[in-house]
Amino acid sequence: MGIGSGNGKSILFGEHFVVHGANAIAGAITNKVIVKIKQAKKNSVRSNYEIIEKMSLDGVQNILNSMNVIDKYEIEIDGDLPTYGGLGSSAAFCVALTKAIANDKNIHLNESQINAHAYEGERAFHGNPSGVDNFISTHGGIYEFKRGKTQKENQFGKIEIKKPLTLVISFSGKYGATMKTVSEVRKLKEDDEEKFSQIMDEYSQIEEEAKKMLEKGKIDEIGKLMNSNQSLLKEIGVCDELNDKAINIALKHGAIGAKITGGGGGGCSIALVEDEKNAIDLNKKLNDAGFKSFVTKVG
Ligand code: PMV
Repeated sequence: MGIGSGNGKSILFGEHFVVHGANAIAGAITNKVIVKIKQAKKNSVRSNYEIIEKMSLDGVQNILNSMNVIDKYEIEIDGDLPTYGGLGSSAAFCVALTKAIANDKNIHLNESQINAHAYEGERAFHGNPSGVDNFISTHGGIYEFKRGKTQKENQFGKIEIKKPLTLVISFSGKYGATMKTVSEVRKLKEDDEEKFSQIMDEYSQIEEEAKKMLEKGKIDEIGKLMNSNQSLLKEIGVCDELNDKAINIALKHGAIGAKITGGGGGGCSIALVEDEKNAIDLNKKLNDAGFKSFVTKVG
């Protein structure tokens, strides 16, 4: 018997810009996947997480191979992390499973080993993932990161924040537009390199400032910077009408800042709020408007 957990993540600043060389900022959210395992004749997965269930057996085998474990497991997935794209649920599953296997086999793994095994699992879900999701899920906290050509070349710098941020995350109901929006942004860049490079410069100033404000715990400033980041995301065309709707509701009902998180074109949006009470009120407003939303903390 073994048990393990892995946290989800949210990109706070820099989705899309990170693909073109800028730094991004992402943090672990409190919502997590919990995995319980027991040895069995063959691998099987049971959960309410439909997406993970369908795609996970290859991931399970990759992790077992990476850990040099020949046993098979009956795997039960639980927890409170939704599988809406962009929240790192497959990486959280891989981290949780790695820890559960280590727990069952009494193997001690350090964080960098957990991360490496989980990455092998992630490859079954995403082919050639950047490795950011499993890193954040393994290590927790908030990180500034720059993507390398391979996951080994990724650079992460921990941002020590004053206090955790409270977020309301809302899902538009539209899954998986990331590949489409990433390729649309690439086309936009090719069509007008100069304009794109100006936008990248503007974004980089926002990100530098955001890092400082996170360190100082200046929540109002962080919110404003999220809004500025969102304006640039709109300029590069990755927000659809559902993202706009969620963000407008958030800003109208007390959010300090709001933007998409992840690929956009639907997917998820985040709203930064002052405290738990604002979060609960806004969560209800978003739910009433048809979004699947929930309150979480980051960092
Ligand atoms: O939706 P997610 O969490 O996979 O984030 C996508 C982030 C992008 O910057 C849009 C793409 C990428 O590969 O970094």
